[in-house]
Amino acid sequence: MSLPAKALVQAAANSGLRAVSVRHSSQAPKVALLGAAGGIGQPLGLLLKQDPLVAHLALYDVVNTPGVAADLSHIDSNAKVTAHTGPKELYAAVENADVIVIPAGVPRKPGMTRDDLFNTNAGIVRDLAAVIAKASPKALIAIITNPVNSTVPIASEVLKKAGVYDPKRVFGVTTLDVVRSQAFVAELKRLQSTVRIHTFLCFQGHDASKTVVPVVGGHAGITIIPLLSQVTPSTKFSEEEIAKLTPRIQDAGTEVVNAKAGAGSATLSMALAGARFANALVRGIKGQKNVQCAYVASDAVKGVEYFSTPVELGPNGVEKILGVGKVSAFEQKLIDASVPELNKNIAKGVAFVKGN
Ligand SMILES: NC(=O)c1ccc[n+]([C@@H]2O[C@H](COP(=O)([O-])OP(=O)(O)OC[C@H]3O[C@@H](n4cnc5c(N)ncnc54)[C@H](O)[C@@H]3O)[C@@H](O)[C@H]2O)c1
Repeated sequence: MSLPAKALVQAAANSGLRAVSVRHSSQAPKVALLGAAGGIGQPLGLLLKQDPLVAHLALYDVVNTPGVAADLSHIDSNAKVTAHTGPKELYAAVENADVIVIPAGVPRKPGMTRDDLFNTNAGIVRDLAAVIAKASPKALIAIITNPVNSTVPIASEVLKKAGVYDPKRVFGVTTLDVVRSQAFVAELKRLQSTVRIHTFLCFQGHDASKTVVPVVGGHAGITIIPLLSQVTPSTKFSEEEIAKLTPRIQDAGTEVVNAKAGAGSATLSMALAGARFANALVRGIKGQKNVQCAYVASDAVKGVEYFSTPVELGPNGVEKILGVGKVSAFEQKLIDASVPELNKNIAKGVAFVKGN
């Protein structure tokens, strides 16, 4: 154990606190994955097991965790894998975790909105957050479970009730909206550059892996706001392109739900997005500050308590909220329209905890 860690353990012992509240932090990050046997959980577990920064991957689900853990533990990467099944084993799964990723809950079927999942998923997130509040109050919590616009306020209210809320440590994962936007923009601009090559006007095409598109707001319908005016490398869009791309990004989840025809929602792209975000949190814990879009408690936009913008991540989670930046008139209209919708979603989550 390093000297600072020893000092922390000693300080905890002296103050009468349980040493359990001391996290492994940058030395050997523990990531807990709740909902690990699901459509997202399994491929996300695979990606986290391959992440060289993860020292311990704790898999939790209400069913099938031992099989997933046995399978993943045969992969020759360094992360130790442990299995935890059912509520009695939840405490051990999240105890001492540095990062807790939550994809536990039911996904959409065709015809459903994310809000239609509220009745089932609100209770799942509330109950998980109640145990996290006791076992691992300092963990960074990344919530994938929909409706994210409401489940983040739900977890936050539970942590507030327990007296351990830190707004810098609770995140709604909106990375998939960013990933999709980057894929769609790169695809559109690559196609355009191909046309120009045939007319001998050769422009450099977009590399999807180097295209950056900030997405702000929330994670449902009109609250998903891609900032096409801020794409890097700098990219010009016609008004017609913006009018087509924006709703495609907002409805991209439904595209997958419909294509899966009742078999669930995005799992593989979500696993990639979840692993990317978890890795960013772990890098932050290790002192490697980096910027990601995430739905967090925020004062970035007036009149709404939670909003996704680019945020700087560091050792304590959110280090700085970077705000929406300079937006176009079209984007400002979308931001304004998202506020009442987000407030409805947030109020629903808060009322769920306060009324229970
Ligand atoms: N944030 C995003 O961008 C995004 C994208 C896609 C899906 N999602 C959401 O992620 C969630 C999971 O989707 P999925 O496709 O993996 O669903 P799934 O049904 O395939 O898997 C969910 C898993 O959660 C487990 N589970 C249920 N109750 C639990 C509890 N109390 N504790 C622990 N685990 C529990 C189930 O046993 C199952 O293994 C859904 O709510 C979906 O809407 C979010």
